[in-house]
Amino acid sequence: MASVRLASLTKIFGQVTAIDNIDLEIDDREFFVLLGPTGAGKTTTLRLVAGLEKPDQGEVYLDNVSVNDVSPALRDVAFVFQYYTLYPHYTVRQNLEFPLKPKFRRLSKSEIDAKVSEVAKILHIESLLERETVNLSGGEMQRVAIGRAIVRTPKVFLMDEPLSNLDAKLREEMRRELTRLHLDLGFTFFYVTHDQIEAMTMGDRIAVLNQGKILQIGTPDKIYNSPENVFVAKFVGSPTINLLEASIETNTLVVGKKTLVCTISETQRNSLKKYSKRELILGIRPEDIEVSREKKKADSFKCTVYFTQSMGVEDILNLRIDDIVLRAVVPPKLLTGIGDTVYASINMKRSHLFDPKTNKRL
Ligand SMILES: Nc1ncnc2c1ncn2[C@@H]1O[C@H](COP(=O)(O)OP(=O)(O)OP(=O)(O)O)[C@@H](O)[C@H]1O
Ligand SMILES: [Mg+2]
Repeated sequence: MASVRLASLTKIFGQVTAIDNIDLEIDDREFFVLLGPTGAGKTTTLRLVAGLEKPDQGEVYLDNVSVNDVSPALRDVAFVFQYYTLYPHYTVRQNLEFPLKPKFRRLSKSEIDAKVSEVAKILHIESLLERETVNLSGGEMQRVAIGRAIVRTPKVFLMDEPLSNLDAKLREEMRRELTRLHLDLGFTFFYVTHDQIEAMTMGDRIAVLNQGKILQIGTPDKIYNSPENVFVAKFVGSPTINLLEASIETNTLVVGKKTLVCTISETQRNSLKKYSKRELILGIRPEDIEVSREKKKADSFKCTVYFTQSMGVEDILNLRIDDIVLRAVVPPKLLTGIGDTVYASINMKRSHLFDPKTNKRL
C-alpha cells in the first residue's frame, strides 16, 4: 500500500483548465474521497494518478516517489472506471484472472486460482464464477469490476463513481460493503463521487473540488459543520442549507427588512465586530431550526407552513416569513399541514457566516 501526493498539479485541455494547481496528500490506508459536481475534474485527477494523462504542471508522488515518468502499467494502481468495463463474453472467473495473467507477474495456475477464490469470497460472488458477465445484474457486475481491481494488491485503489449506475437500495448496500472492504483489505482508497452521501458515509477525509480547484479538505464532520465557503456549505447536506442575506446591527443579526432578528452570542459578537453594518450571508442548516406549534422562546418567529415533504423519519418543512422561505427538518409527530401557523427559532450557535464578496467563511 502507499500514500499519494499531488503537488501543484495542473491539467489543461485546450481552453479548459480541468485541474488547476491542486495540492493533496492521501495517507497510506486512508479512504479519501474527492467530491464535486459534474465537470469538476474528478476523473481527470484519477487519470493523472494512474498515468493515463500527463500533467501540464506539477507532480504525482506514490510513497513520496515521483511517478511522472513511470508508465501506467508500472505505477501499480488499480482503477475501477465510471462506466465499468468487463469482457462481456468471458466468465466472471476469466475476468478476475485477467489482471493476474501478464507475464511479468509470473504467477502459477494454482496461485491464480487461490487469488480468484479469495476475492470471490470477499465480494460474495463465488456462485457466479462460471457465469458470463453479460448475464449479471448491475450490482453483480459492479462487484466483479471491483474484484478485478483488488485481485492483485495494487499500491492504490482508484475508484471513479463506481456506484453511480446502481439503484438507490443497491447503492446503500454497496456503500456498506466498500467500507467493510476497506477495513478488511487495508488498501489506500482514492474514491471519486458527486454524491455527498457517499462522501460523508465512507470517507475518512473528503476534498471538495469545483472547476478544477480544491475548495476544502477535511473530515466529513469538519466539512459539514465548518464549511469554509458557500459552495461547500451548499454542496454538502440534504436538504440544502438555508442561505440568507443578513447584516449585523448592534447585538443582533438582521435578515431582510427586519423580517428575522437573531440574537448573537458574546463570542460571535466580538469576532464579528469588524463586519458591523456590512452585508453578510447567514447559513443555517435545516436541522438547526427548531419548529413548534406554540411560541416557546422569546426569539422565535411566527411563520406559515408553505410546503411539506414527508421523509418517513422526518418531515421537511418550507416555512414562509414575509418574502423569506426557510427549510426546516422536523419530527413527523409535529403533524403540520400547508397553511398552518408555527413558530421557528434559529440555533445561532450553529449558524455559519460568510462574506458575500469572497464567499468565504468569516
Ligand atoms: N480529453 C479531454 N479533452 C477535452 N476536455 C476534457 C477532456 N477530458 C476532460 N475534459 C474537460 O475537463 C473538465 C473536467 O472533466 P472530468 O471528466 O475530469 O470531470 P468530472 O468531475 O469527472 O465530471 P463527471 O462527474 O461528469 O464525470 C471538463 O470540463 C471536461 O469537459
Ligand atoms: Mg468523471
